[in-house]
Amino acid sequence: MLDFTYYTPTKVIFGRKAENKTGELIKEQHATKVLIHYGSERVRKTGLLDTIEAQLDNLGIPYLELGGVVPNPRLSLVEKGIKLCRFENVDFILAGGGGSVIDSAKAIGYGAADPDAGEVWDFYCKTRTPVKTVPVGVVLTISATGSEMSNSSVITNEDGWIKCGYNDDISRPIFAVMDPELTETLPEYQTECGCSDIMMHTLERYLSSSGNMEITDSISEALLRTVMKYALILKCEPQNYEARAEVMWAGSLSHNGLTGCGTDGGDWACHRLEHELGGMYDVAHGAGLTALWGTWAKYVYKNKPARFARLAVNVLRVTPGKDDDETALLGISAMEDFFRSINMPVSLTELGIAPTDDEYVELARKCSLTANDNLGSIRNLHRADMEAIYRAAI
Ligand code: NZQ
Ligand code: ZN
Repeated sequence: MLDFTYYTPTKVIFGRKAENKTGELIKEQHATKVLIHYGSERVRKTGLLDTIEAQLDNLGIPYLELGGVVPNPRLSLVEKGIKLCRFENVDFILAGGGGSVIDSAKAIGYGAADPDAGEVWDFYCKTRTPVKTVPVGVVLTISATGSEMSNSSVITNEDGWIKCGYNDDISRPIFAVMDPELTETLPEYQTECGCSDIMMHTLERYLSSSGNMEITDSISEALLRTVMKYALILKCEPQNYEARAEVMWAGSLSHNGLTGCGTDGGDWACHRLEHELGGMYDVAHGAGLTALWGTWAKYVYKNKPARFARLAVNVLRVTPGKDDDETALLGISAMEDFFRSINMPVSLTELGIAPTDDEYVELARKCSLTANDNLGSIRNLHRADMEAIYRAAI
């Protein structure tokens, strides 16, 4: 077990019609002008925006709107939001949507509060560090990234299509409103992408090379089993409230730091490899992860076969093989079978992409660049390894 700091300041309001408390939560922050940030007009059509705006009207809190966030959120809209916030003196940002909307809101927050009024992309390139941010609150509509409690924001720069994450505790949302019913409108594919991402946030931390604690491992295993159970139920019963609620809470716990306590922080190679797929091919994040995971796991498991074997037995209920290596491989195969059972891709082909030779080189180049050519905890991956994994994942 390694020393750790666990910092989870986000106030969570969870349950049916939790969105009706949004106005009061913003008032608690003494906000004087709010930017409501969202994606498509879906949130208008479902009545969610009207519900929130009616509360702000009643409380006399001025607001403006900025929609148009797309999956794999773009830097250009972030820059537009920053200008708007500065011009309008916005002092609170409300994100209504999923990880893309929340991440875009966090990026706008950094840029709008930047005393140097510099390029927000600098923070994502790690050439500058933000000193403050405009606070962000969230009304969550998809269970997936855990961004509603995480310190992370991932943005795509259209100039070169580079997708880059930046982690900073100052960006953790002030509050997260979570009504599982709001996720009932999700298409099956997005629901299962979300479940896969939640599992992956847990696996990235569980499959690390040092500092594992029994309690953290047990929480992670329970979380994985729970999400697997309810991902299958949601395939047949998308309106099942209990299943939506279990998955929603699992999403937040998977990425608020809880499943990393005492560990070396996790591996994260799969996530970093996937981010380049998202940047170049605009694929759904959860699907990109499942398309790579099995190949990555087979590439690295020999460095830590006991971890993979434990996953196989405790989560996937695999009958142990003759040694850890064999059990680990049985577990990897069982995990891929599970992803198939929820219609998630387990290869780039199934993901619907076929990179050219040059594109494999480019994927690895970008990934190596954003990772300083050193990725992973179970096994350190360099540019040649990254390219080998992309190629083998076809
Ligand atoms: O524009 P809207 O209408 O919101 O449509 C979204 C979008 O098309 C739709 N959707 C959301 N809620 C819905 C709904 N459709 C019907 N009913 C609902 N209730 O679903 C689509 C996907 O939304 P998006 O926000 O892109 O999904 P997700 O939450 O999976 O976010 C993915 C992004 O987050 C990043 C990913 O890389 C990706 O860019 N991540 C952020 C993390 C973080 N900040 O901590 C960690 C993750 O590992 C991840 O990297
Ligand atoms: Zn993720």
